[in-house]
Amino acid sequence: MSKYRIGLGVTGGIAAYKAIEVMRLLQKAGCDVSVAMTRHATEFIQPLTFRALTDKYVIVDDYDPENPDPIAHVNFSQEIDLLLVVPATANIIAKFANGIADDFLSSTYLASTAPVLIAPAMNTTMWEQPATQRNIEQLKTDGVRFVEPVAGELACKTVGTGKLEDVENIVRQALAMLDSTFQIPGSETRENLEPGTWNNKDLIGEHFLITVGGTREAIDPVRFISNHSSGKMGFAVAEAARKRGAEVTIVRGSTTANPPEGIRVIDAVSARAMFDAVMAELGKATVFVGAAAVADYAPAHAASTKIKKDGIETMTLELKKTPDILSEVSKRRKDGQLVIGFAAETNDVVTYAKIKMGKKGLDLVVANDITKQGAGFNTDTNIATVISRLGETELPLMSKREMADKILDEVLKLRKK
Ligand SMILES: Cc1cc2nc3c(=O)[nH]c(=O)nc-3n(C[C@H](O)[C@H](O)[C@H](O)COP(=O)(O)O)c2cc1C
Repeated sequence: MSKYRIGLGVTGGIAAYKAIEVMRLLQKAGCDVSVAMTRHATEFIQPLTFRALTDKYVIVDDYDPENPDPIAHVNFSQEIDLLLVVPATANIIAKFANGIADDFLSSTYLASTAPVLIAPAMNTTMWEQPATQRNIEQLKTDGVRFVEPVAGELACKTVGTGKLEDVENIVRQALAMLDSTFQIPGSETRENLEPGTWNNKDLIGEHFLITVGGTREAIDPVRFISNHSSGKMGFAVAEAARKRGAEVTIVRGSTTANPPEGIRVIDAVSARAMFDAVMAELGKATVFVGAAAVADYAPAHAASTKIKKDGIETMTLELKKTPDILSEVSKRRKDGQLVIGFAAETNDVVTYAKIKMGKKGLDLVVANDITKQGAGFNTDTNIATVISRLGETELPLMSKREMADKILDEVLKLRKK
């Protein structure tokens, strides 16, 4: 007897082939999978593939005389524990949101009382369209859950948000919706693992929200005040957390490095924009990592047109304090949410880091002396001291990627306490 019955809806996008892997992983986890495809999905992959692998008729058109069940949309929809749509086109999302039932999959959605999980995939412009976002908001209000697409190179050769989330993560979320203790065979729970075994999935169930890079504070439409942050350390933490099974969202300021593939990225270049993006995303996070070098001050009045130099020998910029993201996150923290900060200092590093930790209510601070050779901005290596209520850990010269795992080990130790 299968543990869960899953209705897998497949729609007409380039990522349709990935639904095969989703189906295989669900079967491997002991689920009974029935597949429904839209007509357009069959342009990308054949129903026969699913039919051969599930040993069941794949319904595309319930009017088809070959369809063995004359009221399939009702029977199919009532015999499933979860309706999972992978990939979901902008079109099917729009139909679900508006109660349109003009094909088998959209009729099934209306006829079902099972929970629904949707994994969209589409070109960035389609994803960002107000219409698509409105439809998604509507569905969220209706109780539908989403596995949000991530940033990466898309089929249309552009880079942006819209790429289907990693299939393992989709399956993990589907199974978690049905039973939070249910695991894909072979994927370990964090309880079974010791920190330091970072090829393992010891951060499953965590959602990291990570700020990365510097910020740019406009003086006028051409000039800005910024700093040397490259984003390398924050991206390394994001990549490591993701590899260890966490969900990760990056809020990216100004960076010279590229984000790791397959992670959702929200762009927020000024301190104010970063503050707003973080506060909007914070509710979903279990761990907040403030790795961005956020400007402490910004021009009080950015000029709306380019400032001309003619006849001006000296110029005074009036600066005002920017909103303090870390302090605000700490103030709004929910039970169990961990708040991690970075301190880049040039002297009395550990002392200043401890002051920052106390003042901002951090659970852990990563302090680095940016004057040391091999540490700080725009290098691939770092040297740091990790400070938490469990004590201090020296991290000698190592790659930022290695250091990211060491930092995550310390986060995990805090979590276990
Ligand atoms: C080559 C090709 C790739 C497409 N990829 C996507 C996609 O990834 N996401 C999407 O929302 N629409 C995509 N479309 C557009 C959809 O196929 C189109 O909106 C269609 O009506 C969706 O039908 P369905 O939702 O019933 O499957 C693509 C179209 C073509 C021709």
